Amino acid sequence: MHASSLSFRLAVLFVIAGMAMGIGMAMTQDHALMPAHAHLNLLGWVSLFLFGIYYERRPALDASRLAMIQVVLWSLGTVVLTSAVSAIHLGYHAAEPIAAIASLIVLAAMIQFAYFVFRPERNVAPGPAAHLSPAE
Ligand code: HEM
Repeated sequence: MHASSLSFRLAVLFVIAGMAMGIGMAMTQDHALMPAHAHLNLLGWVSLFLFGIYYERRPALDASRLAMIQVVLWSLGTVVLTSAVSAIHLGYHAAEPIAAIASLIVLAAMIQFAYFVFRPERNVAPGPAAHLSPAE
């Protein structure tokens, strides 16, 4: 499997969970978990889907083990961070160190992604979208 496929698959799972959480909050009129809902949707759906689009347009990078590691790291960090933020907002403040560690995991995954972006000559093998030629 390529990094983009994994990103897209995990992203839709995250947004289904995030939307279910949103519906739960709306139904119960209890918005205590709003920060966890927002992080789950923005890290797990929006950012992950954007990573997938970036990878899909760079086939060499998309097929690389490094990109796969970045997606897995980001996704694990998102699950742990969201769970810890939920626990904190439910009153379990012992989860704060876990949230701190998870935040460093997602930061590390973003720095890894930044490395891909700033080292394009090594990673980019443009996909078909970059080779469109005008119709005659
Ligand atoms: C079924 C879909 C969804 C439902 C029912 C839902 C529901 C909610 C609810 C009830 C809140 C709390 C609002 C408040 O306390 O002021 C909230 C906040 C939020 N939601 Fe959702 N949501 C959904 C999908 C999404 C998605 C897909 C995203 C992001 C892509 C998202 C991002 C956010 C953010 C960022 C906040 C925090 C807003 C703020 O700080 O005021 N939500 N949502």
